[in-house]
Amino acid sequence: MSERGRFGSKIGVVLASAGSAVGLGNIWRFPTEVGRNGGAAFILVYVCFVLFLALPVMVSEFVIGRASKANTVDAYRVLAPGKPWVTAGYMGVFAGFLVLSFYSVVAGWTLHYAVQSGMNNLTGGQDFAALFSAFVSHPFWPLAYVVLFLLLTHWVVARGVQEGIERYSKWMMPLLFIIIFVLVGCSLSMQGAREGLMFLLKPDFSKVTGRVVLSAIGQAFFSLSVGIGCMVTYASYFGRQMRLVPSALHVCVIDTLVAVLSGFIIFPAVFSVPGLSVDAGPGLVFITLPNVFNAAFGGSWLGYLFSLLFYLLLLLAALTSSISMHEICTAFIHEKYGLSRQRAAAVVTLICLLGGVACSLSFGAWREVKVFGMGFFDLFDYLTAKFIMPLGGIAITLFVGWVMERKMVAAELTNAGTCHRHAARVLLFLIRWVAPLGVAVIFLNGFLGK
Ligand code: PHE
Repeated sequence: MSERGRFGSKIGVVLASAGSAVGLGNIWRFPTEVGRNGGAAFILVYVCFVLFLALPVMVSEFVIGRASKANTVDAYRVLAPGKPWVTAGYMGVFAGFLVLSFYSVVAGWTLHYAVQSGMNNLTGGQDFAALFSAFVSHPFWPLAYVVLFLLLTHWVVARGVQEGIERYSKWMMPLLFIIIFVLVGCSLSMQGAREGLMFLLKPDFSKVTGRVVLSAIGQAFFSLSVGIGCMVTYASYFGRQMRLVPSALHVCVIDTLVAVLSGFIIFPAVFSVPGLSVDAGPGLVFITLPNVFNAAFGGSWLGYLFSLLFYLLLLLAALTSSISMHEICTAFIHEKYGLSRQRAAAVVTLICLLGGVACSLSFGAWREVKVFGMGFFDLFDYLTAKFIMPLGGIAITLFVGWVMERKMVAAELTNAGTCHRHAARVLLFLIRWVAPLGVAVIFLNGFLGK
């Protein structure tokens, strides 16, 4: 146990955890959901769910991870030996493989778009929708980018907790914030800024239907990386002095801020170009935005810069998240089977390569291959976001709220009674009652919504 990796600094902990949370979920998925579900009202509902459902799950994961100092499977073995709770840990590792497989497909597209932007190939006069669908169904290039992205992820994870994850998060996250602020500035100076801001800031509650509410909970879970033991794994590298409640709160605030700022980048830009729609779905950042870059800047160097920075931002965000999914599985294989970290990471990368290729092919050669009526990409997405994450969230909060020794939980939440005693009481209430019940609703949505 003494040889386990460990984060070296508090800021490293917050940046690495925020790095896991901030990802394609914020910059690609969040604006897509906001666009589809009517803007400001969706954001308000989303923020409530972050605070009352996802935050308690994250704090619970921190408690389990730090109390056990083990990977997400062994954590349950250490804290509740011989009990079936370990199933939640296995589910998490399985989900880690699934998420990383389909995530690396979208991350691969991002890498391609970053390269194309860099080579100034996303210039005007092209049909970007046709370009996108030709690319994702190409028999070679999307696969090559999946491989490249996974190798990049592997390279960081194999270097270890402090030398890899913490070190790279420490420079990638600040860079990401700088790029975001530059892009928000550019976007707000565009002519459609007012309209875009209105869409984001003026709630229209008539849009909040049951379906919208349920999408908001799912989005909160995915975006904060909770429910599959990712934060259990990271917290197992936390030092004793880390304060769990404020750290979780910081991660939630940073994640939500980045999501909303992504809206501030995308919607003013989209409203600046007549004829483009805010509810373009997943194509929003790969089809709509290249149109925006060209129409708004008329092929000038500013358009080039905006486009390049945007895809670099998306790439950085994807990478800091993918390393955390990879780490769930690597930590497990490393500790359970006694393989070196490098070998364990190589096993994970290989398995995810197979999964990633299968997901990518479901847009091309394997378009007709369906399992339960879905291609691999949709199946993996569905299984994790609608099935394993909610179930995991319920199990994790029930475990901390009702199964773990009360004194141990209180000691973790308050660092042995030295801080945040009131906050700990509020959180314990959320963990025992509000989160498991609320999350049960997502789970039902997973079944009934399909
Ligand atoms: N939170 C990440 C995002 O927003 C996705 C993620 C899910 C990361 C699960 C780790 C675990 O993109």
